[in-house]
Amino acid sequence: MMLGLLASGRGSNVQAILEAAAAGRLGRALPAVVIANVEGAAVLERARTAGVPARTIPHQGFSRREDFEAALVGALGEYRVEWVVLAGFMRLLGPRFLAAFPGRVINIHPSLLPAFPGVRSQAQALAAGVKVSGCTVHFVDEGLDTGPIIAQAAVPVLDDDDEAVLSARILREEHRLLPEVIRGIAEGRVVREGRRVRVRPPEGP
Ligand code: GRF
Repeated sequence: MMLGLLASGRGSNVQAILEAAAAGRLGRALPAVVIANVEGAAVLERARTAGVPARTIPHQGFSRREDFEAALVGALGEYRVEWVVLAGFMRLLGPRFLAAFPGRVINIHPSLLPAFPGVRSQAQALAAGVKVSGCTVHFVDEGLDTGPIIAQAAVPVLDDDDEAVLSARILREEHRLLPEVIRGIAEGRVVREGRRVRVRPPEGP
């Protein structure tokens, strides 16, 4: 199961996926290519270090979103990508892209959706005064963080948290949850029924 990993910056979630793959924790899922939409993004170096092809397709190079998406689809096709993982990819994808990978695009988001979609979710959580936040892995649809939820992990929000501290606590869960979901998909344990998604537990030890 060939994976295309899309990211925009630091790439710690991509790193978690690459490490899970190297450790045999992704089932038959194989990271085939990492694509960044930002030149010089740190994620590119992480991919190269892991021996995974890394490409940059800057969105600014395209006047129309459809053309940017067509370029992404073309590059992913070169690597025979079947599933796409958005791991800190900061662009909305539209129908052109989603039609190329129907039901096969997932995203990680640093809040318990549907709370706090969009950017700076951890700051939104602090401003709202919630006592629990976390992260969500979901299928991608055309909305902003609105697709069917596959899995979530919760963390406490503590009195003295600032955005950086809460982000770091959530990020630790992101790094665990996203590879787990990818493995579940690779093993055919993720079953979608409308908006509800069932993840069956792994078999054996
Ligand atoms: C993560 O918190 C992810 O959930 C969000 O952006 C951040 C990306 O971090 N969408 P990294 O690039 O994976 O380190």
